Amino acid sequence: MINLPHIDRYLQIASEVAKEAGKFLKENFENIKEIEYKGEVNLVTEYDKEAQELIYSKLSSAFPEHGFLGEEDLEKRGDYEFRWIIDPLDGTTNYAHGYPVFCVSIALEHRDRIILGVVYNPMLDELFWAIEGRGAYLNNRKIKVSSTKELDKSLLATGFPYDLRESKNNNINHFNNFILKVQAVRRGGSAALDLCYVACGRLDGFWELKLFPWDIAGGMLIVKEAGGKVSDFRGNEIDPYAKEILASNGFIHSQMIEILKLGEKNE
Ligand code: IPD
Ligand code: CA
Ligand code: CA
Repeated sequence: MINLPHIDRYLQIASEVAKEAGKFLKENFENIKEIEYKGEVNLVTEYDKEAQELIYSKLSSAFPEHGFLGEEDLEKRGDYEFRWIIDPLDGTTNYAHGYPVFCVSIALEHRDRIILGVVYNPMLDELFWAIEGRGAYLNNRKIKVSSTKELDKSLLATGFPYDLRESKNNNINHFNNFILKVQAVRRGGSAALDLCYVACGRLDGFWELKLFPWDIAGGMLIVKEAGGKVSDFRGNEIDPYAKEILASNGFIHSQMIEILKLGEKNE
C-alpha cells in the first residue's frame, strides 16, 4: 500500500483540477470553432489544448518539482520522482460531434508506478478515482468490478486506432471474433471511461490496441483497485506504455484471451 506523505493532497488537487477542466469542456461543448486534423480521422479542437493548459498551469504551480506528460505536445523532461500524465479530453471525436461521452484523465506516476488516477466525466458529474492500495471510488462510493462469469453474458467495449485505414492491425479482426461470442460490444469513444466502466461493473471487459499512456494510466489503476485485471492480450502484466490492453472483471479474462488468440491467426 502506498504511504507517501502528500498523497491525499495530490488526490485533492488532481480531483479539483480534473473537475475544473471538465466544467470548462462542458461549458464549451457544442461551441467548437476550430477543428484541426492530426491524421485522416484524428481530430483536435481548441478545447483539447485549452483544457490541457488549464490543467498544466494549476498542477505545475502546485507541484513545480514534478514532471509532466500530456497528449497535446506537453513533455517536461528531466529526472523527476513524480510525473503527471494527462489526457485533457479523452473522447475528442465525440466532443467534436456533440456526442456527450468524454472525460478528463489525470494520473500520477511515482518512479515508474502509477499511484493515483482520476477520471472525470463532466456530463454526468462522475469522478472516478483511485490511490494504489486503497480501492477505487466513484464520487464518494467505493466501486468494484462486475461478477459476470461467462463471456456469453458479457458486455464489452473496445475502440479502433486512428490508423485503421492504413494498418491491417486495426482491431477489426478481434471485433469480428468478439461480437459473435458476447452479449454486445460497445465502442464508446473514450478509452479512459471504458476502463472506469469496467471498474464499476457497467462493462465486464475492454480491449484496445495502440493506445497511449495518457489514455490508460489513470483508468488502469482504477480497474485494478476495483478488483479487476489488466494485462496485454496474452495475460502478461503491462505498464501504461504498452501498445495493447485487456481489462476485465477478472472472471472472464482468460476467456477474452482465447478470443484474442483467434484474432492473431487472422491478422
Ligand atoms: C481516443 C479515445 C478512443 C480510442 C482512441 C483514443 P482521444 O482518445 O480514447 O476511445 O479509441 O484510440 O485515441 O484522441 O479522444 O484523446
Ligand atoms: Ca485519449
Ligand atoms: Ca485527448
